[in-house]
Amino acid sequence: MRFVYADNAATTRIADPVLAAMMPYLTENYGNPSTLYKKGREAKKALDDAREKVAALIGATPYEIIFTGGGSEADNMAIKGVLTGKAAKGRKKLIISSIEHHAVLHTADALKKAGYDVVVLPVDSVGVVDLEALESAIDENTALVSIMAANNEIGTIEPIRDIARICHDKGVLFHSDAVQAAGHIPLDVKEMGIDLLSLSAHKINGPKGVGALYVKKGVALAPVIDGGGQERGLRSGTENVAGLVGLGEAARIAKDHMGSEGARLAALRDKLIAGVTERIPFTHVTGHPQNRLPGTASFVFECIEGESLILRLDAAGICGSTGSACSTGSLDPSHVLMAIGLKHEIAHGSLRLSLGIDTNDADIDYIVDSLVEIVGKLRDMSPLWDAKEKKPVK
Ligand SMILES: Cc1ncc(COP(=O)(O)O)c(C=O)c1O
Repeated sequence: MRFVYADNAATTRIADPVLAAMMPYLTENYGNPSTLYKKGREAKKALDDAREKVAALIGATPYEIIFTGGGSEADNMAIKGVLTGKAAKGRKKLIISSIEHHAVLHTADALKKAGYDVVVLPVDSVGVVDLEALESAIDENTALVSIMAANNEIGTIEPIRDIARICHDKGVLFHSDAVQAAGHIPLDVKEMGIDLLSLSAHKINGPKGVGALYVKKGVALAPVIDGGGQERGLRSGTENVAGLVGLGEAARIAKDHMGSEGARLAALRDKLIAGVTERIPFTHVTGHPQNRLPGTASFVFECIEGESLILRLDAAGICGSTGSACSTGSLDPSHVLMAIGLKHEIAHGSLRLSLGIDTNDADIDYIVDSLVEIVGKLRDMSPLWDAKEKKPVK
């Protein structure tokens, strides 16, 4: 049976050159980067190289890159680090959007419980943040605005430049969770006016548990982990050298191939979206029709339960994901699908297919053919579907 991995927004396979770059640091090059002898200096040099490559991916300087244990940690470091640090200048308000990842949402919840003021901005029906609401939410008590560069469920790319401009006009710092965007779409922190940016290695064919936070020079954060003073005292602990070498190599490859790989994925994504929407009636695309991540296609199918769809796709050798009900262990569809205004019953039939380095044309044909068959079968079993009329029961 064919195997098609179409869940690259969840995680990606470590690319072969990335693994090859990491291997020496998992074996013979095991030195601690803080030590003075040659073995330690070699590890330190590897970290410096990785930092340069990550900085180059987003237009930062190496000094501005703080290595972390992944995207969630980078988000926590940015938000808690600003709000509880000198950068906040005593201001206590945080502004986020309603479609942020839980790494941001739950960090905001924790700050709220600790007495901070949190404002959650609405998004429109394709997931774009309401810029007027942002402008009016910022006041003299606002320390930070945190809005993602691209959404992980529906692929919508946010108007980051405009958001940064609004923040800076009002003298407020801007953090962007770019875990889904970095390495996939061009990002230049200087040109775009981003003060803090989170990214993660495992979304760009690097290893899990490794990421980075860009912190613009001069922004004074409170540390998240105290200890030996690594990462400019913001994130103590002996560095994950092999993992960070992997992040650096993944960032280099992503930068070098972004144009061609992005165009290749966008063509496959568009073919997938066209195939699914043309051949399966009562299907809707979620997220922005144009401004979306090159590899992300997301749908809702009327009269379908997302979890059943995922299990049937799995049986056909296809990995995808749903933002609906049981798969996330809660009864409600995802907060993102609710925020874009989908009705519960429609949101339950959501499917995200995210393409990556291994996806090819034949995979798309296979996904579309399989989906036509599976959605047809599931609908025929559904009490919400009129099998004779081939439409939802009114
Ligand atoms: C938008 C976004 N932010 C943050 C994260 C968390 O990143 P990590 O898994 O590296 O902690 C993810 C992962 O799914 C994500 O998609």
